[in-house]
Amino acid sequence: MDDCTYVIFGATGNLSQVKLIPALYRLEAAGRLPPGLKIVGFGRRDWSDDDWREKIREWLGGKASDPAVVARFCARQFFFQGNLDDQQAFPALRDYLLEGARFSHNLIFYMAVAPADFGPVSHNLGAVGLCKEDGGWRRLVVEKPFGYDLESAESLNRSLSRDFDESQIFRIDHYLGKGAVQNVLVFRFANLMLEPLWNRNYIDHVQITHSEELGTEGRAGYYDGAGALRDMIQSHLLQVLTLVAMEPPANLDAECLRDEKVKVLRSIRPIPQSAVNAHAIRAQYTAGKVKGRSVNGYLDEPGVPDDSVTETYVALKLYIDNWRWRNVPFYLRTGKRMKTSYSMVSIRFKHPPQQLFRETPIEQLKPNWILLHLQPHENIRLEMQVKQFGLEMRAETTCLDANSCTVNPGQLDAYEALLLDVIDGDHSLFLRYDEVSWAWKAVDPILKVWSINRDYISTYDPGSEGPVEADRLFVRPDQRWRNSLEDQD
Ligand code: BG6
Repeated sequence: MDDCTYVIFGATGNLSQVKLIPALYRLEAAGRLPPGLKIVGFGRRDWSDDDWREKIREWLGGKASDPAVVARFCARQFFFQGNLDDQQAFPALRDYLLEGARFSHNLIFYMAVAPADFGPVSHNLGAVGLCKEDGGWRRLVVEKPFGYDLESAESLNRSLSRDFDESQIFRIDHYLGKGAVQNVLVFRFANLMLEPLWNRNYIDHVQITHSEELGTEGRAGYYDGAGALRDMIQSHLLQVLTLVAMEPPANLDAECLRDEKVKVLRSIRPIPQSAVNAHAIRAQYTAGKVKGRSVNGYLDEPGVPDDSVTETYVALKLYIDNWRWRNVPFYLRTGKRMKTSYSMVSIRFKHPPQQLFRETPIEQLKPNWILLHLQPHENIRLEMQVKQFGLEMRAETTCLDANSCTVNPGQLDAYEALLLDVIDGDHSLFLRYDEVSWAWKAVDPILKVWSINRDYISTYDPGSEGPVEADRLFVRPDQRWRNSLEDQD
């Protein structure tokens, strides 16, 4: 792995404190950082390198138990004082980074700043030539949100690509770094027996759920402008959908993978504005209890306006109009302040064509399910019907579980894997712009209708499975939400 310099814009902000610095620290502790990697925090404060190192020690607090690792990590840290919108800061930054041999000239610019700053910062970098790959590679990392809707995503993309080439831009979707999400590809394409079944002839419908016990956790400023559809569905859950639905790629190269994902997104049947209510449900949590603990309603969260109709829950029905999936409903669902925190893909198979057991005590055969439990623990479960022990012809559901493991908090996970991929220059788990744009196209009609209908939003109790209205998305009476591995038919 090449030596390089991670330059963090917004180094003293929340993203840097909560995710980026702890993730880099965990990579340090695991011995995964290249020896010559250095980290330059770019921030407004009048800090010396030692002040910055002190701040990092404070942030890591209890997470950093090994003083030798902390010392090694801090020795990589430097601070550059500058203002994002001060153009004078950028020539000085260029000289600071490129003069002499203190820093590797392979540079990663990490935008831990507000989305409104992505364009101006990349332009300032471009203006001083820091986007040019002479004497080292240059990479730009941006976190979602990539725009607010299709139009703003396009304008953001135009402004980033004025100075940086697509091959230099890494759009992070941390969900793609999750081992269990990558396992969807292994499970599908390393097992021949699944392929003949993985289509509209055998699959009744697919559910993709991300449910969270937490509320907005002090992020109302961002969340109230975004809502669950932008925050989770347009980004993470549509990505999971592409992995479940895509055709096998020619190989695992980033471009081949992303070509196949884009094909899925392009095949999503557009939802006409007149049909938005039949395809999408939105709701907001009220005050109540989650696991016995009293919690505020969304409208009482600090920073949320009293008349907000921002959705904290969405359920959505999509169709993918291609040979494999035509007319198979894909139900996507996410909510905050729900009963439990988990993410799961639930694939329900059709009933066998012949009612062979009609004359036996088996009253109604239960369908097969494949459950890809993504978090908090990873598990792949196949539910099959077998004969119950005894003389009578009765069936019961049996489960075949694979790959059961729990991600423990100290373990290297999604974010860390992605940070290493940036150093490696591997784009496979990052979004290409056309993916972002097609994902916006899929949800844009809903956003438009919701932005106009601002006088009413359904509600749901915290600690519940969401609003009952979500059931009306189902196309057949025997469909129902699958809320956990255990909750069998
Ligand atoms: C983030 C969203 O992208 O993903 C959050 O902004 C959400 O609102 C989070 O809670 C979920 O990801 P994870 O990995 O914590 O399940």
